[in-house]
Amino acid sequence: MRVVCVAGARPNFVKVTPVVGALTDRGADVVLVHTDQHYDEAMSDVFLSELGLRAPDHHLGAGSGTHARQTAAVMVAFEPLLDALGPDVVVVVGDVNSTLACALVAAKAGCLLAHVEAGLRSRDWSMPEEINRVATDRLSDVLLAPSPDAVANLEAEGYRSDQIHLVGNVMVDTLLANLDRARERPVLEQLGLQAGSYGLVTLHRPANVDDPADLAALASALATISAELPLLLPTHPRARAALEAAGLPATVRLLPPLGYLDFIALEASAALVLTDSGGVQEETTVLGVPCLTLRDNTERPITVTSGTNTVVGRDQERIVAEARRVLAEGVPRRCPGLWDGKAAERIADVVSATVQRRPWRRPTDVDDLAPSPAPVVG
Ligand code: UD1
Ligand code: UDP
Repeated sequence: MRVVCVAGARPNFVKVTPVVGALTDRGADVVLVHTDQHYDEAMSDVFLSELGLRAPDHHLGAGSGTHARQTAAVMVAFEPLLDALGPDVVVVVGDVNSTLACALVAAKAGCLLAHVEAGLRSRDWSMPEEINRVATDRLSDVLLAPSPDAVANLEAEGYRSDQIHLVGNVMVDTLLANLDRARERPVLEQLGLQAGSYGLVTLHRPANVDDPADLAALASALATISAELPLLLPTHPRARAALEAAGLPATVRLLPPLGYLDFIALEASAALVLTDSGGVQEETTVLGVPCLTLRDNTERPITVTSGTNTVVGRDQERIVAEARRVLAEGVPRRCPGLWDGKAAERIADVVSATVQRRPWRRPTDVDDLAPSPAPVVG
């Protein structure tokens, strides 16, 4: 079985690593394609080396750009490569532009397509990721869902039950596989920190960092919290300049983007995490660390109902009040089912079985036409 696995951006490397491992363990001929959506050493190479992900077999050189340019660059480079490779199946992960671009190419090439992290929905159509999620699922034959809410979304949108597989969360696979190594890192000592004496912040969503007025409101909330709990903020390249210009006090310490192991070490020992990241909401749930999500919604509601996450929006007063509340009261420690470190094994089982069952049925087979998914609106 030849499998093309695609990764392009920071969270993709974290998600694809256990999938590549599990498929390789089953004897698959895995071809790893890096789209180069993220290309800085700190956003790409450090993840490959720390996670033990082997060197990509192919780079697409897509780089940065507008949505159209970036998506198109990935598609133009991926199409002839896919044609030359002729895989049995393409596996895409997550919700970034590279995910959708490769899904479009694979579907139009008539290739079996599996989506890892299918079914997540924020119902916020202003998020580029929501467009990528909905469109990628529509193009995919095999929908690999991380949680029951994702399964329910897919069922409500009319996908066939034999397409939907509840497999668990691959980001948790990687977290659990690397947590002991991360805890051995000397990063707390290097930064002069004690466990539980600081908060950790990440910000990179366009809605939070692209408009200086939106960012100023968040910066003000962070400044207030940092007077009571010093904050660390490893910066995403998208937000670095804006954060540096935001006039944050010294109690909000800006750091470069961190490698995976140092970031996990800091996350695991934080008193509180404030974030707009998808993956960080999931990791804090598994680590039992309180998380405040600085967004109006989440596509990962299970981290709220079965985890440590609270969606607090972007109102300054609410953010500060919620930070004080969770620091005083703590949060329940609980973890969603199947977030057990074995999601990639289940994915490899499903993908192998689907390939062996060929010819597979595409979602639009006329003999079993599912109702078209309803448009998702906010
Ligand atoms: C992308 C994803 C987002 C994901 C995030 C993970 C889309 C639409 N967005 O957002 O869902 O949460 O990755 O981190 O796919 N840049 C660099 N170096 C790099 C990469 C980017 O300097 O290695 C800068 C460039 O100025 C670029 C900007 O960051 O224009 C944004 O990068 P891009 O990949 O377009 O989107 P992200 O904000 O990273
Ligand atoms: N991460 C990291 N260093 C950082 C910030 C995040 O290693 O400085 C990791 C984090 O642990 C998680 C992933 O990057 O595994 C999340 O990526 P990001 O927040 O960029 O994307 P999202 O999950 O929002 O799509």
